[in-house]
Amino acid sequence: MHLEMKGIYKSFGPVEVLKNVHFDIKENEFHALIGENGAGKSTLVKILTGIFPHNGGNIFVNGEEVHFKSIRDSEEKKIAIVNQELNVFSDMTVLENLFLCKEIKTKTGRINVKEQSKLAKEVLDKLGIDIDLNIAIGELSVGLQQMLEIAKAILLDAELIVMDEPTSALTDKEINALFEVLEVLRTEGKSIIYISHRMKEIFQICDRITILRDGEFVITEKVKNITYEDVVKNMVGYDLGGLFPDKPYIKLGPSLLRVENISKGKLFENVSFEVHEGEIIGFAGLMGSGRTEIMNAVFGIDPCDKGEFYVKDKLVNIKSVQDAKKHRIGYVTENRKEEGLFLDFTILDNILFNNLKKFSNRKIIDHKLSSDEAKKYTDLVNLKFRGLEQYASELSGGNQQKVVLAKWLANNPQILILDEPTRGIDVNSKKQIYQLIYELRKIGIGFIVVSSELVELLGITDKIYVMHEGKMTKSIINDNLSDETVMKYMMGGTDNGESE
Ligand SMILES: Nc1ncnc2c1ncn2[C@@H]1O[C@H](COP(=O)(O)OP(=O)(O)OP(=O)(O)O)[C@@H](O)[C@H]1O
Ligand SMILES: [Mg+2]
Repeated sequence: MHLEMKGIYKSFGPVEVLKNVHFDIKENEFHALIGENGAGKSTLVKILTGIFPHNGGNIFVNGEEVHFKSIRDSEEKKIAIVNQELNVFSDMTVLENLFLCKEIKTKTGRINVKEQSKLAKEVLDKLGIDIDLNIAIGELSVGLQQMLEIAKAILLDAELIVMDEPTSALTDKEINALFEVLEVLRTEGKSIIYISHRMKEIFQICDRITILRDGEFVITEKVKNITYEDVVKNMVGYDLGGLFPDKPYIKLGPSLLRVENISKGKLFENVSFEVHEGEIIGFAGLMGSGRTEIMNAVFGIDPCDKGEFYVKDKLVNIKSVQDAKKHRIGYVTENRKEEGLFLDFTILDNILFNNLKKFSNRKIIDHKLSSDEAKKYTDLVNLKFRGLEQYASELSGGNQQKVVLAKWLANNPQILILDEPTRGIDVNSKKQIYQLIYELRKIGIGFIVVSSELVELLGITDKIYVMHEGKMTKSIINDNLSDETVMKYMMGGTDNGESE
């Protein structure tokens, strides 16, 4: 399939978010679409698939102009999209979801469960997923839900599949499985539009790349003819320089939080660590090594069974989120959609809800104070938005993540847990977030960073704690540490070079 978009314009109300954008993709091409948060990538592909109408420009499939009025229309032309923000009905079963609105019927008009199950199994096998077809979607990890969306596109036998940040919620293992599937799709002659902030993936799998900046087309180029630095420069509009801040030597302040021998069921065992004023500690480990579970315990969401917490050297109880908040612990979760953000509320409300006490006086909300503070923190995280009254759902994915960060900063934390803080965030904003963390450490905030991006941990932390299958295998001062060293402990290696 050859698809062309010419001179596309799009406005939301008075705001123009796409201006004269060109894009084309050829048969059997893997084409990356990149740009900063809010550049207009998701909007462009939603126009392409008929989800959003556009205000100007034309779309051609194999030279013939098309007018998609809904996603149905684009599906009919064998175009499928895996959206950035998942919208699944949690109570629906895997099978129901896979065939939603595309049920296969028997002659008597009933749903042909047998045939559907057979097809579903084939596709899931291809994706290397082994799950019960009758389980409710809501019980699956976000990663698996994402894989099901990809399965749907394959079931549709689409010739062109749009993937809007498909890997941002996947584990390393799932990413590898996805890449294997992509290779199969390549041999089958499919075309892929691939949106991602992970540059490595783009260089690994894509043939061409199109860069958008502030809703405008910048360049389309063959991946082999462009360097990483050029891509960043075209995206940002200027030379960004190094991603990580210089690490000045800082003297650690007094202890903020000391965690001793906490355990919870089979999730993690005898875990101890400490964070001081102004210190940034990192947690490395593979998916399932227990990192998020530990953070859920520290934040009181899922309290631990055993072990002690000391805040500023005083033994405290952390059995609930209220306890954690009382000790001024903040938590930016990895899953902003489910836990971090109310999408149907405004940016201001999201920040307000998290800070009701601070923003009210004798139970009456001080609106001036709350909007002043909200303004301050949204500026601090460099949020790209129209106003505080804008709904969170209208923000681009990366900007939603920034709202989560802003709402916790407004809470005036002394300890801030960041779980995958830059997932889905563009390079420029990443750099700004790193700089922000470094600014905040100066005023004494202690950070606990969980990240699956090792470069990120190596780039910003003072000390790295490594987890393997629920146990802490090592804590290492990050003084020019190499990724091989950390990797070794992540895989369960010990100092003798043996595996446990
Ligand atoms: N439904 C909507 N109503 C109003 N504005 C919107 C809506 N959807 C998107 N926008 C705005 O359009 C612009 C482009 O957003 P888009 O989601 O296309 O960005 P993106 O390039 O996909 O970013 P990200 O990398 O963060 O996902 C943003 O400024 C966003 O706030
Ligand atoms: Mg997007």
